[in-house]
Amino acid sequence: MNMQSMSLKFNQKELQILDQTLLPFEENWLTVKDPDHMFSIIKTLKVRGAPLIGVSAALAMALYAQSENNAELFISKARYLRESRPTAVNLMYAIDRLIKVAKDNYSSDAIMSEALAIYQEDIELCEAISSHGAKLINEGDVILTHCNTGGLATAGIGTALGVIHKAHTQGKNIHVYVDETRPLLQGGRLTTWELDKIGAPYNLICDNMAGFVMQTEKVDKVIVGADRIATNGDFANKIGTYSLAVLCKHHGIDFYVAAPFTTVDFECESGEQIPIEQRRPFELKGVQGHFGQVQWAKKEGVSVCNPAFDVTPAELVTGWILDTGVFDKESIKTLKVKG
Ligand code: MRU
Repeated sequence: MNMQSMSLKFNQKELQILDQTLLPFEENWLTVKDPDHMFSIIKTLKVRGAPLIGVSAALAMALYAQSENNAELFISKARYLRESRPTAVNLMYAIDRLIKVAKDNYSSDAIMSEALAIYQEDIELCEAISSHGAKLINEGDVILTHCNTGGLATAGIGTALGVIHKAHTQGKNIHVYVDETRPLLQGGRLTTWELDKIGAPYNLICDNMAGFVMQTEKVDKVIVGADRIATNGDFANKIGTYSLAVLCKHHGIDFYVAAPFTTVDFECESGEQIPIEQRRPFELKGVQGHFGQVQWAKKEGVSVCNPAFDVTPAELVTGWILDTGVFDKESIKTLKVKG
């Protein structure tokens, strides 16, 4: 069976990944060699977005199982890959599912069918989130979004960007403000690329323009994705999300987070327990892409703080758009583990 999403191609013998660091100018597909290669692809953000990280890791492990007969060695490699990014809980969720199968009944067929189920489920979860979310969007709404949460970040239509995609397809005449998303520019490079593909009208803005845009233009809603949601509704997402939530409160703008249940960490009671990935200083001292590397801060002597995510407290959230429906501040606390 051949499967293809916006950034994955898989045929049970080979996994190919669209290198997101080269977008929007180069569409270069990488063939994943083994779990160690997958680790580095995740670490360097060639593949990114919480759901897609989980799906890609699962598919890479399913290919590895075809050449590894020993369940213990498989599990130890899976645990290693599980550490490639610390905040996106979808990675841990997907790997833990495979480890459970390996412990119960290790066979390459069983691992493959679990990985394929994870892939398929993500498509369905995105579809459900987008349908629930699109019902919240009114004719002519102006929506601001952050980072990239679309087909490049999931196996399906996306989460927050999936909602936008669906509302646009329904002909709701929406307009989007796309936060550039410093420092790695997922909004400027990837979300604009996706919105161009679907023909949805947008303006790209720098993250530090969001306040001015809210003050001077019509902005009806902010919709973002998540990397981990705690059971009290606090959630981690791309750095800059918290600032948007605070701005929304000041300006009286609805602030929504969209995510599948695979992003909810049922063992995490509040945002304080969410580990925040600190990334390397060079990401703030310049920029790199298809053009090579540009540096604006000195390599030595410039000390940097580079948290990849921040945590938005539940009190700032208007609604949580999940695959099972839209939750408010009260109902989000009643979420139960699926299955
Ligand atoms: O560092 P990234 O690009 O993986 O961060 C991505 C985000 O923060 C997304 O908003 C989140 O993973 C949800 S993607 C559907």
